[in-house]
Amino acid sequence: MIIDFHSHILPEFDDGAENSKIALAMLKKSRAQGVDTVVSTSHCYPYTSHDVDKFLEDRAAAYRRLMKAAEGEDIPDIIPACELHLTCDLTGIGGIEDLCVGKTNYILIEMPVRKWTDDIIDYVYKLSISGLKPIIVHDERNIGQPKEMLEALHSLDILIQINSGSFGMPVYKKFIDRMMKEKLVHLVGTDMHNLSSRPPDMDKGRKNIIKRYGTDCWEYLMGNAEQILNGGGIHYHDMRGFRKKTLFGRHG
Ligand SMILES: [Fe+2]
Repeated sequence: MIIDFHSHILPEFDDGAENSKIALAMLKKSRAQGVDTVVSTSHCYPYTSHDVDKFLEDRAAAYRRLMKAAEGEDIPDIIPACELHLTCDLTGIGGIEDLCVGKTNYILIEMPVRKWTDDIIDYVYKLSISGLKPIIVHDERNIGQPKEMLEALHSLDILIQINSGSFGMPVYKKFIDRMMKEKLVHLVGTDMHNLSSRPPDMDKGRKNIIKRYGTDCWEYLMGNAEQILNGGGIHYHDMRGFRKKTLFGRHG
């Protein structure tokens, strides 16, 4: 089973699919690459509960537009979620739990681009003890953050997602290798926005992951996604303790 855990496929909503036609083409391309399920993670920037309500309302409308365009087409299943920008202490915002992945308590968090300080890590920590399970999206992009901040983030009860396209990129090679070795990579997503510059590239990611880390690793990552969507959940500390002789052992 192939699950894309990060995508911007809802039409005319965020900076993702420009319209329903493009959204449908993106989904069909995903399908052709064997993707069974796409987690739809449109950008959300909440400061108040009103922002959450407005997001959910607009997301529902965008989803209806997409479903209308996709009538009778063979596309992957779509799971509603969001990519929640860490704007402040999100635990104080009403309705934040409605932004989780489907019916789970896992929530995708986009870290700020600005230089992290202790308060940023504290916001993630608060989320992690609030009953929600933060998934840090495309953590490789945080490569430039202070080392001690990254280490503090990675010591929290969180999960980490890496973009499929980043697996073949020299700039991220060392970072991802280290993360893999430390068993800190849990999920993969395309973060697709369109058909050109940020396209559906799960197949390319799959090939790069298998080539560098082995088939077991790919299956482990897809298994994690499946387990979360099935309501079983996975836990950071279980993942850190995950041991298998061949897994993650091929890079050096
Ligand atoms: Fe994204």
